[in-house]
Amino acid sequence: MANKPPFIAGNWKMHLTIAEAKNLAAAIVKACVDLPEAEIVLAPPFTALHGVKKVLEDSSVQLAAQNLFWEEKGAFTGEISAPMLKDAGCQYMIIGHSERRQYFGETDDGVNRKIKAALRSGVFPIVCIGETLAERERGETMDVISQQIRGGLEGIGAGDFKSIVVAYEPVWAIGTGKTATPGQAEEVHSHIREKLAQKYGIGPAECAIILYGGSVKPANSFALLSEKNIDGFLVGGASLEAESFIQITREAIRASKEKK
Ligand code: 13P
Repeated sequence: MANKPPFIAGNWKMHLTIAEAKNLAAAIVKACVDLPEAEIVLAPPFTALHGVKKVLEDSSVQLAAQNLFWEEKGAFTGEISAPMLKDAGCQYMIIGHSERRQYFGETDDGVNRKIKAALRSGVFPIVCIGETLAERERGETMDVISQQIRGGLEGIGAGDFKSIVVAYEPVWAIGTGKTATPGQAEEVHSHIREKLAQKYGIGPAECAIILYGGSVKPANSFALLSEKNIDGFLVGGASLEAESFIQITREAIRASKEKK
């Protein structure tokens, strides 16, 4: 679908003190006043959520958590629930990031529980999927993506699906400087939309926001977002500096306006 507002999310991962996070958020808020055509979401580490929320108040920039646990409360030392994150001001939650799958054993079943927990709390999930380099080299990319969609979205109906953002992040492109070419990314994005259409129908699939993530930079943002099925970005490294994050957003807006 042409001309959805580009959706640009910054995943700050395990970076920044509270003071640094607030400063970065303030610089982004200031620049965003001139960029009303984009939806902007920031995902600071847990410790900075509350402080950043205060900076985002009175702006259109929204807040995301990087993870959650699916239970609401209880004896789960070290975990944080969806209602707690909502209380801290989060409107979005990143779920199933490849770093969580890779280093913390997160599975499609766990992703599915987390999506349902976020939805129960009225928070929008940003669900990450993507293949590893080995899977791509074995020609398994589309099968991996299909399985992650099937498992992650198991039991989630079309009504709830409207609240979900999908992010395609090829694992081999994350933090490596190796971006998927616009053609490679589009091929997978179009496969994702097709799978979503099979599950939810063409209308909801067309409306779905599908982000690309993996070494997004100001220099590649325009070409990537010019692709038909790329609706925005989940940015890691380049979101840690206001200038590069804003430049990515500007380029995305420019590409979106030129999209047919
Ligand atoms: P980089 O932009 O640093 O490659 O990270 C992408 C990512 O993992 C965003 O969630």
